[in-house]
Amino acid sequence: MGRVTMLGMVNSEYEVRAAQAGEYDQFAGLFAAAMMFESSPGELDRELFEPERALVAVDGGQFVGTAKAMTRDLSVPGAVVPAAHVTAVGVRATHRRRGILSNLMSRQLREVPEALAVLWASEPGIYGRFGYGSAAWGVSYEADLRNIKPYPAPSDAGRLEELPAEDAAAQLAPMLQGLQGKRPGVSGRSELEWRRRLEDKPDHRGGKTARHILVHRDEAGALDGYALWRGKMNWAPGGPANEVSVEEFVALHPTAYHALWHHLLTLDLAGKLEYGHGALDEPLQQLVANPMALTRRLGESLWVRITDVGRAMAQRRYATNVDVVIDVTDDLIKANNGRYRLTGDTDQATCAPTEAAPDVSLSVRELSAAYLGGRPLSEFAATGGVTENTVGALNKLTTALYWPVAPVSIEIF
Ligand SMILES: CC(C)(COP(=O)(O)OP(=O)(O)OC[C@H]1O[C@@H](n2cnc3c(N)ncnc32)[C@H](O)[C@@H]1OP(=O)(O)O)[C@@H](O)C(=O)NCCC(=O)NCCS
Repeated sequence: MGRVTMLGMVNSEYEVRAAQAGEYDQFAGLFAAAMMFESSPGELDRELFEPERALVAVDGGQFVGTAKAMTRDLSVPGAVVPAAHVTAVGVRATHRRRGILSNLMSRQLREVPEALAVLWASEPGIYGRFGYGSAAWGVSYEADLRNIKPYPAPSDAGRLEELPAEDAAAQLAPMLQGLQGKRPGVSGRSELEWRRRLEDKPDHRGGKTARHILVHRDEAGALDGYALWRGKMNWAPGGPANEVSVEEFVALHPTAYHALWHHLLTLDLAGKLEYGHGALDEPLQQLVANPMALTRRLGESLWVRITDVGRAMAQRRYATNVDVVIDVTDDLIKANNGRYRLTGDTDQATCAPTEAAPDVSLSVRELSAAYLGGRPLSEFAATGGVTENTVGALNKLTTALYWPVAPVSIEIF
């Protein structure tokens, strides 16, 4: 139970509990209202709902807060691990700033069975207080197709084709798994999640075309990359200036990467291309003679919250050999507090409680931010969030935690 003071006058009790199976529409309605969009849940949304992993705050029989966790996996440095995918976080406008989110978050984080929780934040100021760290940068691209000058596609380009949506899920799924093996930050999808991802309701297209499912086959005919994209006709005074929106891009080999992007960057009548999920080390600009025509904007991608330090740190791999004692503080999950000896390399890792003197001290937020290998720990030492107790230990730990391939989430969930 929590207590809210409404309009500064009326006290009312609210209850926080797990949702029930039949409550999806009410749950979705509250979240949609908080985000200011029209709720229109479909059958697949209802099927995907895990009521026992969804929390609601209820005041006088009315939902006033929601937060749910989805059971999915996530690629992390050197492994693919279970991660609670947190979403649908919302508080009714009449009940804001009275602690409902704090109540939902602290209960959710204490209860998740996974060693990690991850989310996309609507605003970067919300989740740090709960121990989440911004763990991956995302690059949004806007390409001026009239001036970008793509280099020619490779001559051994294999071939491109479009798949009908009905057949696509089973064929795309192995490629997404392949990407998880290469890049941290990528969420896995069940068969049901794939069906939901590929749903293409006409009233959700925002004036754009139906989704194109473009795939690349290598010379042997095996699929090794895909792009999901839509177009939008735009006839400007100066001539055709159609817009290309790339929703998702996966390529497992350089040839597929180049051939798919070359196709997208050279579509007839197109003047602009947008893609919102590039990684910090996205090689796209290497494919064009004029990268100045490729505007890049950096934003927060995935946020990570370690809920079980020992388990989480042993689940990932490390870029170099590491053997350090870390002292972790966690205001919310008391069991995380303490010293751990972390040992590991590219093949294995252990992280167990110890009484030894700490080499590096930090809070769970900084450790979570560095977890996917995309934020150097030294960055947080520079502002006092991480303290080096043994000279040289911070560099060693920073290098081991960092990863040669930058993490990025390619889907907002
Ligand atoms: C963001 C939201 C969930 C916050 O819920 P809430 O119940 O008002 O939050 P709380 O009262 O528990 O606030 C806890 C703390 O977070 C702060 N906070 C809340 N929302 C914040 C925001 N958008 N930006 C920065 N800080 C915020 C509060 O000021 C409070 O700080 P304090 O502990 O120093 O006093 C709610 O405003 C909302 O539904 N917003 C619209 C939908 C949305 O953005 N959801 C998140 C999707 S990722």
